[in-house]
Amino acid sequence: MRVLILYCCCAHLLAALFTSSVIAHQGPDPVAHWFFSKTTVEGDRIKPRLGPETLAEGGPAYVEDQFGGALAFDGADDRLMVSADESDLASRLPHQFLTVAATLTVDHPREGVAVVSLAQIHGEGQKGWFLGYNERAFCFGLASLGRDDGNGRMTVIEAESPLKVGRSHRVVATYDGRQMRLYVDGKLEASSDEQQGPIIYGARTICAIGAAADTDESVFHQGLIRDVVVYDIVATNKWVAHDAEEWGEVAKADPVVSPNNDLQFVVRPYLQMVTQTSITVMWETNQQSPGQVRYGLDESTPSVALGPETTLHEIKLSGLDPETPYYYRVESVDSRDRKIASELLSFQTANRRETPFAFGVLGDTQFNPRVSKTLTDMLWMQRPNFFVIAGDLVDSGPEKWQWTEQFFPGITPLASRVCLFPVIGNHEQNAKHYYNYMSLPEPEYYYQFTYGNADFFILDSNKECGTESEQWKWLAEALEASDAVWKFVSYHHPSYSSDEDDYGDMWRGRSAYGDQRLRSLSKLYDKYGVDIVWNGHIHSYERTWPLKHDKVVEQDGTIYLVTGGGGGGLEVAGPIKPYFQNNVKHGHHYCLVAVNGRTLEFKAFDQEGRLFDYLKIDKRLGGE
Ligand SMILES: [Fe+2]
Ligand SMILES: [Fe+2]
Repeated sequence: MRVLILYCCCAHLLAALFTSSVIAHQGPDPVAHWFFSKTTVEGDRIKPRLGPETLAEGGPAYVEDQFGGALAFDGADDRLMVSADESDLASRLPHQFLTVAATLTVDHPREGVAVVSLAQIHGEGQKGWFLGYNERAFCFGLASLGRDDGNGRMTVIEAESPLKVGRSHRVVATYDGRQMRLYVDGKLEASSDEQQGPIIYGARTICAIGAAADTDESVFHQGLIRDVVVYDIVATNKWVAHDAEEWGEVAKADPVVSPNNDLQFVVRPYLQMVTQTSITVMWETNQQSPGQVRYGLDESTPSVALGPETTLHEIKLSGLDPETPYYYRVESVDSRDRKIASELLSFQTANRRETPFAFGVLGDTQFNPRVSKTLTDMLWMQRPNFFVIAGDLVDSGPEKWQWTEQFFPGITPLASRVCLFPVIGNHEQNAKHYYNYMSLPEPEYYYQFTYGNADFFILDSNKECGTESEQWKWLAEALEASDAVWKFVSYHHPSYSSDEDDYGDMWRGRSAYGDQRLRSLSKLYDKYGVDIVWNGHIHSYERTWPLKHDKVVEQDGTIYLVTGGGGGGLEVAGPIKPYFQNNVKHGHHYCLVAVNGRTLEFKAFDQEGRLFDYLKIDKRLGGE
């Protein structure tokens, strides 16, 4: 094993190259040394050459090449935790003098990652030290007792040279009680005199390899680690240069990369904001990479639209022909020319005003990708032109995994073929993920789109919707300006609902029959002849008769539809039938709306594909 040979052969040289601050130290043995080989990696247990054993969490993959072995960390949950008990660990901690070195590759540079950490990094009262990197370069952080007996502040120094994604680097950091130094590939890249005196450690210091782990959180490394070594002595510049020479061949070579760390889709392609002449294609990759969309009228002669290097790709295709089918494929290429491509997919630009179209509506897909996939697969079989989700796409908007592992897998393949128009619900919690994943016109929380002879107006009912609000005023102007045959409005909370307990306990008393905050919007619907209002929030189905001035009318009214059965846990209607109710149903479902000129057919289907509601609106007869 190469690393062992290095230390056996170089022991005397190393002794000579360390500073005289190690007078009491007999030779240059490290306090801990972990490297990865067939003999040291035993399932979850990683045997050290010296120092405490570590336990692998998350399952980092072992890979091997001509230089020996390495562990591949996936950037999600892989890390090694030093399993020494606290007293053993405490006895080994370097206090006055420190050298820490690692050989590694970085696949995804991002803020706050550690390769090895023995620190409290996050929150107040920083302690200990770490060797890691940020979005640009390698970093070394350390907190000492300092000039003022420890102020709980860590100094983090950053290498001058940017790290190279996918390449092996030898990174060394030292501290001698007066100065922190950071070397990359043998070159001194940063130093600081800010910290002074002994290193300060916390009572519960966690030692991790492959993550910046402390009692608050972990930020995980993505890439390979070959070797981590810690000394309680201070390496000289000369030793660091010599050490880098020893690792030179590895640094020059392309590393073996674990399948874990190959460029992958995190979110497969999906479509946004289709118009007659444009559409936005989005997808997410696990690594920064330039993206491109190859598209055309058939597969053979594609145009190419290029996007910047990023993980969340958003490429708008413009100058398209109206009502025209296109074929497309997305591709991402990483810095090592590894390419991933989607399957050949399709979309169609928006229909002209005179052409019939159909769209799906569902709501509250939250936390149930099994049901939302069943429903959207069924909807896909009916070939809609687009679909709307009336809020609560996920159960907890700030939790990214719910988007990547629940929401998007749940709506595939529909969303890769037809455009999703979203509405923000309360469960999104106004999280950045909603705004990042959804490509919408400013200000995003409300917006408008046109399809065929219909105008759609989307609101955020979490925000103010009263007559003095920005949204109310915008909607008034937008409806005034609309000359569409059909006008549809969607927001999450229902204006009308007979749910058993959301608006008053109907088993014992009165209900407000919906969210009263939103009722002033109805003045606009009455004035401008809005045809249908789509809501979610109540995980059930309910359709009203046409309403005007809060009264049932036989014509020229607005129909309010609660369609919150897209996956979330089901709710139940109260025992009393209110005046507005035409149809109510308990169960998961979706809706399909077909528009042909001045006629509209509306259908609602349950999870077994059974039609349970049907409505036809015919404006040719002088009705609505
Ligand atoms: Fe919901
Ligand atoms: Fe909700």
